Amino acid sequence: MTAAGPDAPTVLITGAGRGIGEATARRFADAGYLVGAYDLEPCAWAAGDDRVVTGSLDVTEPAAWESALTDFTVRTGGILDVLVNNAGLLYGTPFMDASYAKDSALVDVNVKGVLYGCRAAFPFLEKASAPTVVNLCSSSAIYGQAEMATYSATKFAVRGITEALDLEWGPLGIRVCSVWPLYVSTEMLESVNTAGMRNMGVNLTEGEVADEVLDLAEQTRRTSGGVLGRIRAMLGREVHRPVGKQATAMYLSSQVAPSRLVRLSNKRLTS
Ligand SMILES: NC(=O)c1ccc[n+]([C@@H]2O[C@H](COP(=O)([O-])OP(=O)(O)OC[C@H]3O[C@@H](n4cnc5c(N)ncnc54)[C@H](O)[C@@H]3O)[C@@H](O)[C@H]2O)c1
Repeated sequence: MTAAGPDAPTVLITGAGRGIGEATARRFADAGYLVGAYDLEPCAWAAGDDRVVTGSLDVTEPAAWESALTDFTVRTGGILDVLVNNAGLLYGTPFMDASYAKDSALVDVNVKGVLYGCRAAFPFLEKASAPTVVNLCSSSAIYGQAEMATYSATKFAVRGITEALDLEWGPLGIRVCSVWPLYVSTEMLESVNTAGMRNMGVNLTEGEVADEVLDLAEQTRRTSGGVLGRIRAMLGREVHRPVGKQATAMYLSSQVAPSRLVRLSNKRLTS
């Protein structure tokens, strides 16, 4: 493990203690980035790895965001190249088996966490030459998923945040995009047993999602700068990237099929 060089690009990843966040942090570190790996608890897996700065961050607390970003960017000259809003919660149960508290927790982490992260990181992203925000969205933002109503609602919100800031920040040179995996084999799914998951299976690893997150950030770096870069940015860079064959098929068909057909296929898949 070689320490990130003085001009290494920088990335801050939330929910990096395990799962997709950890895999993403490892990918970026291997690609030469200086990585800020933040979670509710410090990321034990990164102990002794001087390519990775670890720290505690509750994404639902604006003050915690300010403090984590100050802590990280003091080492980067005040610049942040990439923000990965990954921290998330999922409860997969029939809607009435959950509770007000669970609805609230999901909205706080999955929606407010992303809004606060974008807001807090903006001054540092603005100073980077090819900045990217990657939000962890989900295939459940294609069509509302039975037994995952609150989760689906939060991921539709992440979709909306991503699309709005892509339009608003694009002209400022900040790319905002998202990845849309279907089911990924992480601890998040351990207590989930919905019909949709049983019907479609868990066919993705956290590493496959991490590869796409890194690729989006690298794509921004390759296609930024100059007039040609701006043209490429307008023409060739997607806002949403489905991950894996199933999510890609679902996403693409939802773009062309009539909404009644999309509803029918989702009904068949999730019940
Ligand atoms: N696993 C899947 O099937 C799947 C599919 C599509 C999208 N996603 C999304 O990918 C992201 C990561 O999911 P995962 O499967 O790795 O989940 P995970 O449960 O394995 O890990 C989530 C991480 O987020 C952290 N976290 C939770 N609340 C936090 C908070 N308030 N502040 C900071 N960190 C917090 C947890 O401590 C944990 O380390 C989530 O946004 C999830 O919605 C997951």
